[in-house]
Amino acid sequence: MENLELEQLRALLETERNPIANLANASSFLYNTMNQLNWLGFYLIDGDELILGPFQGKVACTRIRVGQGVCGNAVKLEKTMKIDDVHQFAGHIACDSASNSEVVVPLWKDNQIVGVLDVDSPYQARFSNQDVQFLEKAAKIIQEAILKKM
Ligand code: SME
Repeated sequence: MENLELEQLRALLETERNPIANLANASSFLYNTMNQLNWLGFYLIDGDELILGPFQGKVACTRIRVGQGVCGNAVKLEKTMKIDDVHQFAGHIACDSASNSEVVVPLWKDNQIVGVLDVDSPYQARFSNQDVQFLEKAAKIIQEAILKKM
């Protein structure tokens, strides 16, 4: 099932070269593929900040400093973050008060992080390790698609 969804995502992105269009469609596809989410989208590196990219959900903070929040820590620590209870994460940035758990996956170009995929749920501990693996595979497909033009 998951492999089918990843193949659908790859097919959705492979014929388009524009990164904004691909991030927009990737956010819609993933948001509508996974259940129990309230926000899913992208932040892209802009100097020492992350700037809001295409997303699904309520309006969100436009800029996050590298090292701040779950997103900024994923960049600083260069790793996927899975937070079962965001209220226990020191420095969590509450863009949507409905969020209770969160996964952030870095997007890479060569050896540099170019952005993150951020996924929020209103349920605590919504994300299993299998979900994280799925999102990491999806992030790889997305980074390949957007780097055609970045
Ligand atoms: N919660 C994130 C901020 C982005 S919103 O969830 C969309 C964080 O702490 O980095």
